[in-house]
Amino acid sequence: IKDQYKVLEFGDLGDERGKLVVVEGARDIPFEIKRVFYIYGSDSEVVRGQHANRNSEFVLINVSGSSKVRVDNGFEEEVIELNRPRMGLYLPTMVWKDMYDFSADSVLLVLANTHYDGNEYIRDYDEFIKEVGGTRRR
Ligand code: TYD
Repeated sequence: IKDQYKVLEFGDLGDERGKLVVVEGARDIPFEIKRVFYIYGSDSEVVRGQHANRNSEFVLINVSGSSKVRVDNGFEEEVIELNRPRMGLYLPTMVWKDMYDFSADSVLLVLANTHYDGNEYIRDYDEFIKEVGGTRRR
């Protein structure tokens, strides 16, 4: 699974006035950006995501606070903690993801290479495992 996600470290253009982080599509991340959304106000009990995407790639950035992302390719899984505004997590298509352990101040920014299309989401874990030919672990 290590070759399926990528932890990115964005540059800091800050100065004495404060920090500035720039993320340019197809330069700082592997795709052109078509969609931006952000998740906040999820408490620590909540599990979000719980889906895989046939067409969408994402970059997740906790611009404030922290959260954890469990990434599952159908064969193995790994947990990545997002806890720095300059850290990005790139996720390709066809990985199952769960986001959880949101801090009270968590603002999770998500960049995507697609416009929203509910039909490209796989929300059934068994269906996901079947499509990737993996082994069920939950
Ligand atoms: P959902 O996919 O459940 O969010 P999460 O990423 O936490 O799993 O999305 C919640 C609702 O918002 C659902 O009805 C679909 C809608 N939605 C859009 O219309 N556009 C989007 O870009 C996203 C991410 C969600």
